[in-house]
Amino acid sequence: REVVLPSELHSRVDYHLKSYLSQKSATRDGYPNNTLPTSRTSESLVGEADEPLRQSPVAEGILRRKSFQLRNKQQDWQESVEGQKMQELRRSLPAYKEKEALLNAISRNQVIVVSGETGCGKTTQLPQYILESEIEAARGAVCSIICTQPRRISAMSVAERVAAERGEKLGDSVGYKVRLEGIKGRDTRLLFCTTGILLRRLLLDRSLQGVTHVIVDEIHERGMNEDFLLIVLKELLPRRPELKLILMSATLNAELFSSYFGGAPMMHIPGFTYPVRSYFLENILEMTGYRLSTYNQIDNYGQEKSWKMQKQTLRKRKTQIASAAEDALGAADLRELNPWTRDSLSCWNPDSIGFNLIENVVCHICKKERPGAILVFMTGWDDINSLKDQLQSHPLLGDPTKVLLLACHGSMDSSEQKLIFNKPEDGIRKIVLATNMAETSITINDVVYVVDCGKAKETSYDALNNTPCLLPAWISKASARQRRGRAGRVQPGECYHLYPRSVYDAFAEYQLPELLRTPLQSLCLQIKSLQLGSISDFLSKALQPPEPLSVQNAIEYLKIIGALDDKENLTVLGRKLSVLPVEPKLGKMLILGAIFNCLDPIMTVVAGLSVRDPFLMPFEKKDLAESAKAQFSGGDNSDHLALLRAYDGWKAAERQQSGAEYCWRNFLSSQTLRAIDSLRKQFYHLLRDCGLVENMEKCNTWSHDQHLIRAIICSGLFPGICSVVNKEKSVSLKTMEDGPVLLYLNSVNAQEPRIPYPWLVFNEKVKVNTVFLRDSTAVSDSVVLLFGGTVSKGAMDGHLKMLGGYLEFFMKPGLAATYLTLKRELDELIQMK
Ligand code: CDP
Ligand code: MG
Repeated sequence: REVVLPSELHSRVDYHLKSYLSQKSATRDGYPNNTLPTSRTSESLVGEADEPLRQSPVAEGILRRKSFQLRNKQQDWQESVEGQKMQELRRSLPAYKEKEALLNAISRNQVIVVSGETGCGKTTQLPQYILESEIEAARGAVCSIICTQPRRISAMSVAERVAAERGEKLGDSVGYKVRLEGIKGRDTRLLFCTTGILLRRLLLDRSLQGVTHVIVDEIHERGMNEDFLLIVLKELLPRRPELKLILMSATLNAELFSSYFGGAPMMHIPGFTYPVRSYFLENILEMTGYRLSTYNQIDNYGQEKSWKMQKQTLRKRKTQIASAAEDALGAADLRELNPWTRDSLSCWNPDSIGFNLIENVVCHICKKERPGAILVFMTGWDDINSLKDQLQSHPLLGDPTKVLLLACHGSMDSSEQKLIFNKPEDGIRKIVLATNMAETSITINDVVYVVDCGKAKETSYDALNNTPCLLPAWISKASARQRRGRAGRVQPGECYHLYPRSVYDAFAEYQLPELLRTPLQSLCLQIKSLQLGSISDFLSKALQPPEPLSVQNAIEYLKIIGALDDKENLTVLGRKLSVLPVEPKLGKMLILGAIFNCLDPIMTVVAGLSVRDPFLMPFEKKDLAESAKAQFSGGDNSDHLALLRAYDGWKAAERQQSGAEYCWRNFLSSQTLRAIDSLRKQFYHLLRDCGLVENMEKCNTWSHDQHLIRAIICSGLFPGICSVVNKEKSVSLKTMEDGPVLLYLNSVNAQEPRIPYPWLVFNEKVKVNTVFLRDSTAVSDSVVLLFGGTVSKGAMDGHLKMLGGYLEFFMKPGLAATYLTLKRELDELIQMK
């Protein structure tokens, strides 16, 4: 068994401590307690907060002259031939009829709530109306409008669209800013940004100096950042009486927001959509010629179940649907069914999507129905890609002379993005596979057919078990209606819901707000760093406050990792973590990587965890792919070290121009590896700007030390830890909260008959039926004892308890004391006092 003996680790850590401390006292001492990094020059900063749009005080005369210039420029464009054409197009949007009323309401009220059908022109027009009217009133040079979007891609595409409508390039009067990138110039007056960017800006500038209008878009989605931003803005408004706030929402629950802001006026933009016919699974099966007998049996079963569901709570209701599906699947004789039928049955299960069924439906439309684009709603990047592969090998759907097959999800690049909006040539059918971002934030004009799988990937959070889950879940009735509405933009449309009517009837009315279904750790850190007072008090002011238990869990977690002290004050580590735009656990790894001069490998691991797994697991070649991955593990019992080796190998291959071949051979995604590569660079700049690293060489003197890498991974992932007991033929794993757990099959540790370590630290656990762990690294007792969490009052007890049987071995007199001293020193070092 390969273990690091306590004494060996002791001297190792001792060595690092001493060398670090001497090095630190020789140079400057971390960075001072109350300052945030000041160097914000580098455009490449990850999620860097924005400078105020307005430059430092400029003489009034210059501002006035600038305003006149802006006005002339705008008039010139509006009078030009192209400008006229554009105006005409813009006037055809429903929002135009309300333009004057909207501007009037804005000038008379501090807050207004605007709702309107998707595509009516809220996002592209309203911010533009404000900008135009400010420029016309010769206030162009002093106005500063910020419009937030929940997603990067919409911030970018909308900014581009608005700049084009104004006959300008991006970065003139209109710009955008999202994490990792942005285009804006000195004269940018209207900035589209993600909600996260505005929150970071608030961190540096709590009263949003110089900003005249804040527009929060897509509030109906009830994302966590948006709900959080609304609490902050609500508190800010009385301090900034001249600041205008405009809330925009697609569906009609405007009353909720209006009453939150003390009865702010509501404006509605009436829109027009064509009727859309709905088909549910039963109709679809009939339409495509499927024997109904088995289905009816199952449907009766389902209806009975769904009737019972009426009484259940939302969460229970979802599990009930799932179990109805399972029972149904059990009841049917699966051998009798062809793959497609089996697929349609699996549509009952919220975790799976019937690819064959989708293929059949799409094919049916292409062959039998009139022209018009097809929009398919899927749950995420993974299944969009898999489905795309499958459709591409279909004789009709894969024929580029007949079908234009496109994907639309958050992480695609902008060139691919544009293709989605283009109209294909006559005779070619456009099919767009999209996530739920196509529900409201993106409008594809020529869609006539919508295929709705009925699911969306939703982060949910089980506060009782403190387990976050990212799982496909049934959507709400509101989402289903919204999806259906996408088919009726240009002519009457059709919507194929790939689930039975009875399942639809059991859907919840609205989706639960994100604040109520996700872990709150990052949010709590932000509350603290924005000095918004007690976390619980602050969150109790939300539109719909989260459960006290979830808040407590998050606070507890932050204490365990040492980001908050016992009195809930931000520690030095906590302050640093709140500046790093990554989850606290990943931030902690980066900081330790920097402290221990072991940065390079840690940046790779963290980037890997924040992008996605680069190891591809194609279903048909699963065995080959698994053994390719296993070969990177080298018996290390660590998915993180395997990723590190794979990445390093790819870098070496890239230098010899054989990166693509390397990826192909090893079942790796070169796209993901490139994303990891670029994120690593961002991390480096960020850490340098925070004063955490000085130069690349110095921060890598210990990068070869595998034990240290493991220890730092443990420091970040703790308390995500499970115990390992090697049985006769298998390995049994347990966590303190869940009891027995399993590993995802693609983990290198899942392939091992034995794991020669007592613990696995893991990045994520997901609850399906059992709890599954994703991405794990095996660690020794001493690593857990030293690097797992901080020693605050009760924490050491907890540690020792967890280490259970190993305690005796460790707690030999003398050794225990050494550990405690060492642990304390280490904690202090991490806090960098
Ligand atoms: O925000 P809302 O859903 O109300 O509408 P919007 O995003 O402002 O879109 C208004 C119109 O502009 C729609 O008809 C879109 O199709 C069009 N648009 C476009 O052609 N290209 C874009 N990049 C964005 C919008
Ligand atoms: Mg919009």
